[in-house]
Amino acid sequence: MDGSRLVIAANRGPVSFTRDSSGALVTKRGGGGLVASMAPLVEGTGATWVGAAMSDADREATAGGVVETSGLRYRCLDIDADTYRMAYDVIANSALWFVHHHLFDLPRRPVIDRGWYEAWEGYRAYNQIFGQAVADEAPDGAVVLVQDYHLSLLASELAAKRPDLKLVHFHHTPFAEPEWLSVLPDEWARQLLEGLAAFHACGFHSVRWARSFRSCCEEVLGHAPPTFVSGLPPAVDDLDAMAASEACGTEGSRIDAAVGGRRLIVRVDRMEPSKNIVRGFQAYDELLYRRPELRGQVVFMAFCYPSREALSEYVAYNADVEAAAAAVNDRWGTVQWSPVVLHTDDNFARSVAALVRYDALLVNPVRDGMNLVAKEGAALNQRDGVVVLSRQAGAWDELSEASIGVNPFDVKATADALELALTMGSEERRRLSAAARSASTARSLHTWLDDQLAAVGESL
Ligand code: G6P
Repeated sequence: MDGSRLVIAANRGPVSFTRDSSGALVTKRGGGGLVASMAPLVEGTGATWVGAAMSDADREATAGGVVETSGLRYRCLDIDADTYRMAYDVIANSALWFVHHHLFDLPRRPVIDRGWYEAWEGYRAYNQIFGQAVADEAPDGAVVLVQDYHLSLLASELAAKRPDLKLVHFHHTPFAEPEWLSVLPDEWARQLLEGLAAFHACGFHSVRWARSFRSCCEEVLGHAPPTFVSGLPPAVDDLDAMAASEACGTEGSRIDAAVGGRRLIVRVDRMEPSKNIVRGFQAYDELLYRRPELRGQVVFMAFCYPSREALSEYVAYNADVEAAAAAVNDRWGTVQWSPVVLHTDDNFARSVAALVRYDALLVNPVRDGMNLVAKEGAALNQRDGVVVLSRQAGAWDELSEASIGVNPFDVKATADALELALTMGSEERRRLSAAARSASTARSLHTWLDDQLAAVGESL
């Protein structure tokens, strides 16, 4: 098919706008992993991207309607602040995201009160606004690739307005098991599943998430729509270009100086409760306790980037992470040695430099749709580094034979895994590291786009 018949719908747009010091509008690539993966695939194709404005600069730059940018048509929606907050902060990020990641602390949360019911209407309104925009912008017979849990209801909006469209939904999160979905009010769960079942196909990163989704549909609706599985590959070309850049070289030298020839454990995450950062530090603490000879000989560098700072759970989790890092440093640190180095500011070049250098990469999420860091690390690493990977990450499907698997809740077992990663023989390290690299780079990013199109019998 011709790229101009392709429409992407996602909360975030392919570009975001800011004002420079002179007040002029400046364009940069939109934030988040989804944009980093999808935008390079569709730039230059003439495809249309429908997204939501996330700042005043976005609103000003796109007030005139569709913007042409990087070979894309970008329709940026100016959604009123209350509707957006209800849809994004409350339903997408505080309700659906927590349900799909099985993260609610059930004795306390969620409290589904009148405010949440109102927010559900906001979520429906947000999906309607997107639905109208896609209906307005999509060429005849277009393929619409809808990304993530923000837009679960979009097909219900479009099916009647534009029956000519081929509609695909792709979840970047896990999907809730039926008993977790049942935490939501029955009517929301039904609308959510009916909304998703109105797509011609629904895609997931892991067979497990597709299975959970089908179980929910069968239990609530009595039938499930077609599903497909396509694990997102890392953007290897972009990563390699960054690894070769001057900025990355500078950051790498800084890391080398701070590590000072010790062994290096790395983690790179958004500061999110799903990432299990606190238990990672507790496992490291256990390791230093049980292996005194490692004290002073290893550094754990954690790069935990700000995420959703408007949500109280995230603010509280950030404080827990900082306290857990400080506890390890207070217990074991010396004048010459900080066991944990925690960075909480966003610096992509520095993360890439760390991924090139790790001896062990800890990726231990409680539950995660994919966790691309595991694959990015495996693709970039130059030190025969070993990936310690949660069996609850979508990436486990592809890396189970090429990493050390952990139960993310088991701190002792995570310490065992870190110990094994740091002490295994060089031949075994080389074997695991090479296997992880080839599993992570076996498919190109294009195959992921091709899989979404193939789900509705199309190809670019
Ligand atoms: C999480 C989810 C992704 C989602 C992203 C959106 O990381 O796992 O599926 O795409 O959040 O993040 P944003 O910053 O755009 O809300």
